[in-house]
Amino acid sequence: MAEKLRVGFVGTGGIATGAHLPGYQALDTVQVVAAADVAQNNLDRFAEKAGVPQENCFTDYRDMLEKVDLDIVTVCTPNSLHCQPTLDAFAKGCHVLVEKPVAISADQCRMMIEAGKKAKKMFMVGQTLRFTKGAAQMKQWVDKKELGDIYFGRAQYLRVRGVPGRLGFVTKELSEGGPIYDIGVHVLDLTLHLMGFPEPVSVSAGVYNKLASKRSKLMPFPPNKYTVPDDAAFALIRFEGGATVLLEASWALNLVSGAHNVILCGDKGGCQLEPTALVRERAGVLENVTNEIFQYPERAGHVEEVRRFVEAILKKKPSPVPGEEALITQRILDGIYKSGELQKEVEV
Ligand SMILES: NC(=O)c1ccc[n+]([C@@H]2O[C@H](COP(=O)([O-])OP(=O)(O)OC[C@H]3O[C@@H](n4cnc5c(N)ncnc54)[C@H](O)[C@@H]3O)[C@@H](O)[C@H]2O)c1
Repeated sequence: MAEKLRVGFVGTGGIATGAHLPGYQALDTVQVVAAADVAQNNLDRFAEKAGVPQENCFTDYRDMLEKVDLDIVTVCTPNSLHCQPTLDAFAKGCHVLVEKPVAISADQCRMMIEAGKKAKKMFMVGQTLRFTKGAAQMKQWVDKKELGDIYFGRAQYLRVRGVPGRLGFVTKELSEGGPIYDIGVHVLDLTLHLMGFPEPVSVSAGVYNKLASKRSKLMPFPPNKYTVPDDAAFALIRFEGGATVLLEASWALNLVSGAHNVILCGDKGGCQLEPTALVRERAGVLENVTNEIFQYPERAGHVEEVRRFVEAILKKKPSPVPGEEALITQRILDGIYKSGELQKEVEV
């Protein structure tokens, strides 16, 4: 059997331990051999679970890249710390899987894409939602032209009360953005993926911070620690060709119940993620034509995401979530915050 691909982790917190690690451990073609984290307790916990020897654990990821021979680096640090480890890993000739959002600006994303190209290595962004059954079913309907020309999408991830309990998510220094970066990016990516990543033209957004930084019961931290710009944001995005997408994301909103959905409307039919369903017009009547014949591996989204990443490396396939697609999403995210600040529509 060929030698296993050697994987090193940068960031060993929640998503690394709970999602990426089981993804790699489910494969017999890779071996997790090294890890780096500034927090010793997280590093120790991860190392024990992953079976990484002490000599391959580092509090500075650059030492890991310098001292351990790696094929893959999986970047699971807070958003502001996605770019530099990715650049450094490419410089060492590694393939990179980086968590979402790809970065904290389109410029950073461009640098990451360039570095990957220069290294001739795989660059994938962890847009997990694409690798779930409902998302794959929607993609199949879109590919079979069940919807016709898609001209409207709604990307919705609304939490009524769901501010993350970790500083890495709520401080601008570490996260840069709030719910738009944390959860909005999941539904936006899936919407754009299904629409074939049309070229965005402009964004008009409302970016709000009305609840989370002010009411102590929502926040396990002192309010002054909440420095990201939003606890809720809403945007209308226009695309070349005339299609529009509504994006809604919140961690805190005075709403009867939360919502998690991607809705697509075309001139022949429409579909949605939750519950996954398809409607089509037949003889002037709109009918629910959802069928249950779709087969999809019953794996968690992250496990499937990691499997597809490794498969793409081994079989020299294109990246399942290339940087170029993440760049389109990131340009929209940049536009949302800019539009919210200027209180007007902005070009993307
Ligand atoms: N795809 C998903 O469903 C999903 C879910 C949760 C989080 N995420 C993303 O994953 C990333 C991490 O989130 P998390 O929930 O694991 O956060 P976390 O706070 O649990 O873990 C982040 C880890 O990074 C470490 N870290 C911070 N600075 C570092 C540095 N300079 N070098 C090395 N390690 C460093 C922290 O000590 C911590 O252990 C974020 O970008 C987040 O958006 C994705």
